[in-house]
Amino acid sequence: MVVVGTQWGDEGKGKVVDWLTDHAQGVVRFQGGHNAGHTLVINGRKTALQLIPSGVMRPGVACYIGNGVVIDPVHLLSEIERLEAIGVEVRSRLFISESCPLILPFHVEVDRAREALRESNGTGKIGTTGKGIGPAYEDKVARRALRIQDLKHPERFAQRLRDLLALHNHALGGYLGSQELEFQPIYDQAMRVAAQLSPMFADVGYALHLSHQRGDRLLFEGAQGTLLDIDHGTYPFVTSSNCVAGNAAAGAGVGPQMLHYRLGITKAYTTRVGSGPFPTELPIDAPGTVGYHLSTVGQERGTVTGRARRCGWLDAAALKRSMIINGISGLCITKLDVLDGLQEVKVCTGYRLDGQLIDILPLDADDIDRCEPVYETFSGWTESTAGLTQWAELPIKARQYLERVQEMIGVPIDMVSTGPDRDHTIVLRHPFQH
Ligand code: GDP
Ligand code: IMO
Ligand code: MG
Repeated sequence: MVVVGTQWGDEGKGKVVDWLTDHAQGVVRFQGGHNAGHTLVINGRKTALQLIPSGVMRPGVACYIGNGVVIDPVHLLSEIERLEAIGVEVRSRLFISESCPLILPFHVEVDRAREALRESNGTGKIGTTGKGIGPAYEDKVARRALRIQDLKHPERFAQRLRDLLALHNHALGGYLGSQELEFQPIYDQAMRVAAQLSPMFADVGYALHLSHQRGDRLLFEGAQGTLLDIDHGTYPFVTSSNCVAGNAAAGAGVGPQMLHYRLGITKAYTTRVGSGPFPTELPIDAPGTVGYHLSTVGQERGTVTGRARRCGWLDAAALKRSMIINGISGLCITKLDVLDGLQEVKVCTGYRLDGQLIDILPLDADDIDRCEPVYETFSGWTESTAGLTQWAELPIKARQYLERVQEMIGVPIDMVSTGPDRDHTIVLRHPFQH
């Protein structure tokens, strides 16, 4: 099964993956890096994960980091240590693909320097997380990346590092107007961390194949969201990997037969962090407004960067594109409880663009920017849905809203999330029963 975000990220993937892992033997990350921030709440206790799969909070579940993920080894080790400090055993069940490209300090430097340059020359920032994700993927595609497997060969690593550092220093000291970095501290740190991580290096694709053959249930956990996908998102305001379900196979090293059910995670409204078009966006600063309600009640602040997330109504026309690209089998609507108490609830059904009515998100970010949303309005509900676990307990108006959303999107709602905690979950059709 694959779990992907259908919007611009932060839909609640981590919470849902943690919940579903109750029925799985392995959880696999297949793209992105520590730009992701997945928050899990278990019996009131919060855990934020970035690189380690959200199945880690279930003892005994195997966690795989597939070849499609870019790894900052220093960050990875610190995330492992953070989990160990709260009593979670990680090392015996974390498998790190040897083919993962590495994020090294100069990638972070280049990422940040480029953003500063975009801001100063008027191009406009993308609003990246500043973790070096884009520059690391660039090196992968340029076929010069250092990979996890290079860490096992110090001499080879040193040689490739020298070459790659020279290239990035050329850009940093030149047109990026930033600080050049030294070889030795990067090398020493990488070797120190490698000594700790190397027992977890693995042939992940093969391990997953064997696990699948044993009859294990495997869950592929997407990071970011479909509208941040490098090809299908609101380019150039996107991340640098394919976040769509189809990439789970390539990014984990398995065949597409393992992706038999695709669960789309959809927030009951929309948020976005960073720049880029957002047709249903609302102002979030004025108390008493809907935008303010979504931002504050939904606690919409980035897990990784702490930035306030932009907020707006649910966009069914954008979701329509997500459903198609991912081949979504079923939906989990999250954060329904955040809509509690709103007088009316709106859903964007399409846009007006250049005098035409369209029912799907355009492909060109400039066109999206000019889209005027067309809304269907529902009356809200006053009752609290927070923490409910049964469909029948939901206020009738909330049920009507969900039923209409399901009809608009054309995909069944299989789950509804009513709170951040693992147990605040309504199941209509269990995704693992497909
Ligand atoms: P992810 O990146 O998709 O895993 O999502 P994040 O963890 O970045 O953001 C989702 C936030 O909403 C987290 O703080 C979750 O704890 C919280 N959350 C998830 N589901 C629900 C829900 O149904 N209701 C509420 N109120 N919060 C939720
Ligand atoms: P999860 O997995 C929300 C956004 C950044 C920026 C753009 C590019 O928690 O849903 P990058 O650092 O990837 O080059 O930044 O992508 N972004 C996310 N937004 N949730 C995420 O992950 C994100 N990961 C990247 O804000 O707009
Ligand atoms: Mg997140």
